[in-house]
Amino acid sequence: MTDILRLDPDNYTVRTCEVQGRTITYRAFEGLEYCRNPLDPIQKINLFIPEAYYRGESINGYTADTAPIFLPNAVGGYMPGHTEEPGPDRRAGGPNSLFAALEHGYVTASAGIRGRTSGKPSNEFFEGSRPDLPEAAADREGSGNSEKPSVPEMVGKAPALIVDYKAAIRWLRYNKDLFPGDTERIVTTGPSAGGALSALAGASADQPELEPYLREIGAAVESDAVFAASCYCPIHNLENADAAYEWLFNGLNDFRRFRMIRTENGMSRIDEEGHLTDEQIRLSAALKAQFPAYVNSLALKDSAGALLTLDENGEGSFKEYVRSFVIASADKEFRTHDNEKNRRRLLVPGSEIDAQDYLTVKDGRVTGLDWDAFVRKITRMKGTPAFDALDLSSPENSEFGGRTIDARHFTAFSKAHSHVPGSELADPALVNLLNPVYYIRKGNAGTAKHWRIRHGSFDRDTALAIPVILAALLENSGCDVDFALPWGIPHSGDYDLEELFSWIDGLCC
Ligand code: DHB
Repeated sequence: MTDILRLDPDNYTVRTCEVQGRTITYRAFEGLEYCRNPLDPIQKINLFIPEAYYRGESINGYTADTAPIFLPNAVGGYMPGHTEEPGPDRRAGGPNSLFAALEHGYVTASAGIRGRTSGKPSNEFFEGSRPDLPEAAADREGSGNSEKPSVPEMVGKAPALIVDYKAAIRWLRYNKDLFPGDTERIVTTGPSAGGALSALAGASADQPELEPYLREIGAAVESDAVFAASCYCPIHNLENADAAYEWLFNGLNDFRRFRMIRTENGMSRIDEEGHLTDEQIRLSAALKAQFPAYVNSLALKDSAGALLTLDENGEGSFKEYVRSFVIASADKEFRTHDNEKNRRRLLVPGSEIDAQDYLTVKDGRVTGLDWDAFVRKITRMKGTPAFDALDLSSPENSEFGGRTIDARHFTAFSKAHSHVPGSELADPALVNLLNPVYYIRKGNAGTAKHWRIRHGSFDRDTALAIPVILAALLENSGCDVDFALPWGIPHSGDYDLEELFSWIDGLCC
């Protein structure tokens, strides 16, 4: 009997791809099933391998035996993340990360990942995401299988995304002798919800809580540990993100943001500006007041071993610690103007380092920063609560829905203040499954040893404290962590692939 999970090493296409005068030649193994009982047609994997490895050649010192495996995910907004191909970056125009990674000598793979809108139509758009494909919905409903429900179920709610990513990682190990690359050097990466997914992959190796979900989809029985996790602006720690947001933005009652939606005529941008209601202003204070107890419960330490805490007003060494990363970022940009020179198109308008009058500069170095002025500068993007919305309208509410319920609360606070009669609260055990911090605090010998976390200093999709907590917890538990809040960068990823690759190379050589 054929084993659907087994890679056929002879079933490939050789492709040559050129972007901006750069050319790569690779073997493509595409549309392969990474689990035996898929719940959604998106659950497929593409594997791309530099053709040079089949000729016994090396690239950047890597060979068929030693090349790391680069596994970016295309999840955005907790929506389905479709498989991608090496080619141009849809946004920036240059090569995408799969292309650049192959050119650099990495074996690459791209797995399709279920998301919160799997099984239902949606016109939402997040960077990296595509709405559910019509043929996918048709596949799910049709085919005369009487066991399938006539109303399509939403099969991609939490914890589906991490289950699928793990199944793909297991598939790579299951087939490790059949293709070049070192499965003990798998590197995950993604931005935003995809950054959270990468952090989850790094933190939750081989955890028993996820085993039933992996068994349900028929994942290979292998370890799902990874070597390194790269996380761009990970939108994670969702059940504490509301308190962190108000700790940062309490007192700023205006918000502005934009959303992208898909229309018949293509993408459409909707600008939203607003003012917190009286109720939201009250809730902001209550959420801010929750944050110190949470931070103090983590017993975080800085690199010198000093405890990072907050007093009841939200002041203290933890705040100074967050501030130190913003100062370090400003200092780097002040000395190098690197982002202004190399990423100008991406930078938040008005973030040019020389125009920031709230910085203290001494002897050519940024040594201080007026915190309140900095926070006013970056501004609030989301209303209150930022994540567990009282009307169940946030992506995160939808992520914590279920097969037959679209959205749930996931904090007792928002459930208690809900505007939706009969609203449900997600099981806290399920909420844990989606939080890398849960696995790190629990202690897990399989946690990725190496982490690279980047969150733009002007990114207001979640509070700066959230990635700082992730980085500190990892460092405190003995991981190697490269963490920065790059200056002027908004909510985005993949803007420094050369540096990311240098970091990976430094770990592998
Ligand atoms: C994303 C952005 C958000 O602000 C959010 O709440 C969840 C996900 C994203 O870009 O993936």
